[in-house]
Amino acid sequence: MAKRDSRIEGFYRLTPAQRLQKVCEFAHFDDAQATAMYGGQLDIERADKMIENVVGTYELPLGIATNFRINGRDLLVPMVVEEPSIVAGASYAARMVRESGGFTASHTAPVMIGQIQLIQVPNMADAHTAITAARMRVLEHANQQSQSMVARGGGARDIEIHRFDETPMGAMMVIHLLVDCRDAMGANAINTMCEAIAPILEEVSGGQAMLRILSNLTDRRLATATVRIAPQSLQRDGISGAEVIERILWAHAFAVVDPYRATTHNKGIMNGVDPVILATGNDWRAIEAGAHAWASRHGRYTSLSHWYRDDDGFLCGELTMPLAVGIVGGATRVHPTAQSALALLDIHSAGELAEVCVCAGLASNLAAMRALATEGIQRGHMALHARQIAMAAGAEGDEVTVVAQRMIREQRIKPAAAHDILATIRTEYVDADRA
Ligand code: MEV
Repeated sequence: MAKRDSRIEGFYRLTPAQRLQKVCEFAHFDDAQATAMYGGQLDIERADKMIENVVGTYELPLGIATNFRINGRDLLVPMVVEEPSIVAGASYAARMVRESGGFTASHTAPVMIGQIQLIQVPNMADAHTAITAARMRVLEHANQQSQSMVARGGGARDIEIHRFDETPMGAMMVIHLLVDCRDAMGANAINTMCEAIAPILEEVSGGQAMLRILSNLTDRRLATATVRIAPQSLQRDGISGAEVIERILWAHAFAVVDPYRATTHNKGIMNGVDPVILATGNDWRAIEAGAHAWASRHGRYTSLSHWYRDDDGFLCGELTMPLAVGIVGGATRVHPTAQSALALLDIHSAGELAEVCVCAGLASNLAAMRALATEGIQRGHMALHARQIAMAAGAEGDEVTVVAQRMIREQRIKPAAAHDILATIRTEYVDADRA
């Protein structure tokens, strides 16, 4: 089979149908997988089983980021998102990274934490000893709850005991159950395990179990992406690559020291991560919660990514973040488009999906910093923004491009301008027809 090449020249100039054709060729899709990519496949019966009080389904654009090469393998990355420029930015950054060999990515074991809160513990020291002694019993009971996870090589691995002597309500103990979730995100299995072992913990500690729930600060389930980019790949509009690197490093330094900037900088990272999470049917709220908690882990909110210049003058970037994603269970299995998105990525473990997400995050971060540090982000944004305003004003087909281009030329990118231009071109068209 020919080696897959994610560098597809002029992909953005194709029609959606032509792009889908390219994607299907790349991924060797059958008709059902292609149809699922096209969308509109989440039928109301299925949707009605996913959440409560369903009245319909909600569509978002699914775009494909090109140029990604991760650990030597070319990938087309599915991204579901409403914001213009994100797919283009990620593709553009992936192209720069590719020129220097692509992304290197890795992930840790998929170990998550379940928490059991114990209150009214009569004697903390005795409870600590008793819980430690009951460790095997607790783990065995936890593993009886999720035999499929155990069969796949995962399951409860260990317990940890934490003490909070002073809280607004008094002392409490918090038991962490460490669970290797393999290819599942794991929330359901962990919550079931926590509820199942709580009575044992109550019995041996003499306390009362309150909350029994996973933690979304999945600081043991991490993924890392690194890049090393030659200066010449970064030069732009008469600004040398070395100067662009200098400016990017100032942008990064700003995010390191200032939480106001770090929040926006990290939002730019999540611009790459969340659309992949969404496309593959994963829980983006969990990922967001984990990412921002991780960004504050040293006591002050800061940049998730780390950028520096190496001795050869190359720009080096690194992003490590919690990424609790699954490829089995939940919406990943139920949503037909999520299934096609996973098939497009051709990945076979949750860890590999986490690697794609972290690379997309680093790519989006690079694209944003490079734009901000050079021309600013509005130039690129405005072209797409103008198209959206044109469509909102009622422009259809080729009218969208004509209205958008005129608004940009006239430097009046506003709904009123779109309406005026649309009315004018429609009159011109009718007049031409009559002539
Ligand atoms: C916009 O969605 C994201 C940016 O604000 C990120 C950043 O400022 O780094 C451009």
